[in-house]
Amino acid sequence: MIRRDKMNLLDYYKKAMKNNFALGAINFCNMESLQGIIEACKATSSPMIIAVSESALNYMGNFTTALASAGKKDFPHLFLHLDHGKNFDICKKAVDMGFDSVMIDGSSLPYEENIALTQKVCEYAHSKNVFVEGELGQLQGIEDNVQSDKSHYTCPMQAKEFILRTNVDSLAVAIGTSHGAYKYSGEKTLRFDILSEIESLLPSFPLVLHGASSVDTSLIERINKYGGDLSKASGIPKNLLEKAVKEHNIVKINTDTDIRLAMTGQVRQVLAENPKEFDPRKYLGSGREQIKNLVIDKINNVFFSNNQI
Ligand code: G3H
Ligand code: 13P
Ligand code: ZN
Repeated sequence: MIRRDKMNLLDYYKKAMKNNFALGAINFCNMESLQGIIEACKATSSPMIIAVSESALNYMGNFTTALASAGKKDFPHLFLHLDHGKNFDICKKAVDMGFDSVMIDGSSLPYEENIALTQKVCEYAHSKNVFVEGELGQLQGIEDNVQSDKSHYTCPMQAKEFILRTNVDSLAVAIGTSHGAYKYSGEKTLRFDILSEIESLLPSFPLVLHGASSVDTSLIERINKYGGDLSKASGIPKNLLEKAVKEHNIVKINTDTDIRLAMTGQVRQVLAENPKEFDPRKYLGSGREQIKNLVIDKINNVFFSNNQI
């Protein structure tokens, strides 16, 4: 386990468990998305994990840490996190770049290989005081570097052994969420029974929910109204997320899709309504405002992390 003088992620996770809130982990891929997230945090006095996938890291390059540092100057209660690191090298790169936290996602590997890889990342990251999240079980869904056709729920007994053998600081669990904008075709449920079993074997251990976007109908309708085509999109109902945060040990909620939908809908609308507009600040600035509003709503109604800095 890592320790630091300032309030670190572990301190926040303990506080979150005690006060029944979660830290949002919101992905960003450019200046406007990060600014929107930070403005929402400032407006609500909420801490936040600002997450970067490997493909977002490639997209932003060295601007990743430059943007995060500028953001932290503005609002210090932010943690820069590598999302879904798939191998040791990308995690090491993030640690060396100054990330606060990395996720090593060995969930698609055979169990013993996932353990060996997670152990190796923990050894390196902990030596530099960087926090490590692991994953056991598999989420369905497709992202650039995160793909799986099937979901495999986390096995509670394996979860306990995994924590003990890897020394990982938090664990992402698979209980029925999935990545992307098409999460359910049938009944919208989560396996809270599996979550409770994990919690009984690992009391007070920080657990993480990926694939937690709500994909609200209003976001989809707006995109479709202004030329998009996202029919049949669906997300996790907010009442299920509330239950995960308030009645369970979920202390980190990952969100990317909703941010993308908010930005895309706003940009589409501004351009459709102002066909003569060609100043990126007008449509990206408007998208940034939309992200701010969406994140304020998440902080107040999904993460419940307002006034927790
Ligand atoms: O779960 C991770 C994110 O949604 C990353 O997606 O690789 O397309 O940036 P990306
Ligand atoms: P969503 O696709 O539901 O936003 O999930 C994002 C995520 O889990 C990032 O790691
Ligand atoms: Zn994820």
